[in-house]
Amino acid sequence: MNTPPILTAGGPGIPASLLRPTLPDPAQPRARYDAVVVGAGVAGLAFALRLPEGTRIALLTKGALGESNTRYAQGGLAAAVGPDDDPALHEADTLAAGAGLCDADAVRRLVEGGPAAVEWLLAMGTRFDRDPDGTLALGREAAHGRRRVLHAGGDATGAEIERALVAKVRERPAITVLERAYAVDLVQDGGRCTGLVAELGAASEPVVLRAPVVVLAAGGAGQLWATTSNPLGATADGLAMALRAGVAVADLEFAQFHPTVLRLPDDEPFLVSEAVRGEGAFLRDADGERFMPAAHPLAELAPRDVVARAIQRQMGLDGADHVALDLAHLDPDAMRARFPTIAAALRRRGLDLATDRIPVAPAAHYFMGGVVASPEGRTSLPGLLAIGEAACTGVHGANRLASNSLLEGLVFGMAAADAFEGSRVWGLGSGDGVVEPWSAPKSGTLPPNPSAAVALRSRVQRAMSRHVAVVRDAAGLAAAGAEIAAVAAAAAAMPGDGRAVHGLRSMALAASAVVAAAYRREESRGGHFRLDFPDSDPALGGRHLLFGGGEDGWRYGGLG
Ligand code: SIN
Repeated sequence: MNTPPILTAGGPGIPASLLRPTLPDPAQPRARYDAVVVGAGVAGLAFALRLPEGTRIALLTKGALGESNTRYAQGGLAAAVGPDDDPALHEADTLAAGAGLCDADAVRRLVEGGPAAVEWLLAMGTRFDRDPDGTLALGREAAHGRRRVLHAGGDATGAEIERALVAKVRERPAITVLERAYAVDLVQDGGRCTGLVAELGAASEPVVLRAPVVVLAAGGAGQLWATTSNPLGATADGLAMALRAGVAVADLEFAQFHPTVLRLPDDEPFLVSEAVRGEGAFLRDADGERFMPAAHPLAELAPRDVVARAIQRQMGLDGADHVALDLAHLDPDAMRARFPTIAAALRRRGLDLATDRIPVAPAAHYFMGGVVASPEGRTSLPGLLAIGEAACTGVHGANRLASNSLLEGLVFGMAAADAFEGSRVWGLGSGDGVVEPWSAPKSGTLPPNPSAAVALRSRVQRAMSRHVAVVRDAAGLAAAGAEIAAVAAAAAAMPGDGRAVHGLRSMALAASAVVAAAYRREESRGGHFRLDFPDSDPALGGRHLLFGGGEDGWRYGGLG
């Protein structure tokens, strides 16, 4: 029998000034919907489209519709649809990658839902790549025992899924798409989530959107770090809103660093898909030698956390800020055809995917933690659902298996909609309100000093990249905590509630929670590697670190 885990006392905490929600003002304009969905990636879109046609949904997205983390997913969508595959094999690979922290039931729901979800996407008009005989083309990625990764346009899978679902959303008049909308905070009445405070234009005052269900599909957290594969919008908004609302969150110490993000001086990071290694690319050190065969029996196809750490170590040995990805031994035309988006991005930077050594390094990519949720999205707050990357269902455990994230957004987005549709069973009601006419947003003031907020935001990102990345230790985490607390104090003193200041406070809040969790888990597991605790602690296997559910805030427990 395992010894109960001991929760480390003290250490970095969450600044109280960041935990205050924005309370709705009764004078604020209101509108009423059947559901309010925050986020328009695969999870939010699947949820909205799965509901019956007439369902009145407000779909909020921070940028233009179609711009989301989903759009940048290259490798693809994992599902056991191949003739030699089976959901049980997919389940085994997912559990192995998750390093003892997966929720077995959630994983089974995910993999068993894969084939039907692919059928649904095809019915929605998604055009996956096909083999010459017309069957779905399947790629291989790290830690998958079978070729089971569906892709589209070679390496533009997320973009194709987003295109197809956005086109369907545009055909639905009952879905009100609110672009450039900024979700501020959740509204609660009598222990239920009953709406959302949101800003609906760059300079508008907040409004309250009421609905019997609010869905957090607000995506990831990559922008908490200075180097990330994620787009600018991935600023952990869902996590921050949940923290301010006192909703249970978990596994915040588990962030995934993608091993191969392009590293060129003074250039934006750009993802070089794991599928490239799946097709046989090698990683080479500064002397041109392969270093992965000595690091793991699966070499370049080891789980993502293993490859990221091996690269980080090799960069240290080489005194370099990158290693090299090499495809020169592979068929050049086949590689350029298989990865047209990556090849074009590299060509614009003067590199040839097929023949040059591509400089790559790990960068923040995916957040395994989030709002504790069941596969149907149910959270600790009735009326609030969380799906996709914003949720923590336990399907990824301590380390997500490649290409399981689009699948999660899809399968659990659909499951949440199906459960909501039968919501009489769990008492949400289906929304009896009438859509009230919008009051025109009043012109508000612009953020008081956006450049000061941006400078403070970079301090958070630098501290996270320096101290809370592929490897961590107590001293570094304490230093990151102190820096973020200083930013929080400066942010609290900033005048105004504009988007830039509110966004800064949200980022500092989410980052401080990540640091506090990483400090408290005194072991190494999956994406969380502590230099001062390099081994896994058997007592912490299957134990999630939760915040919001215990007397002092933090506790170890199960997700259920
Ligand atoms: C990739 O193409 O390497 C990213 C896919 C994923 O993160 O699952």
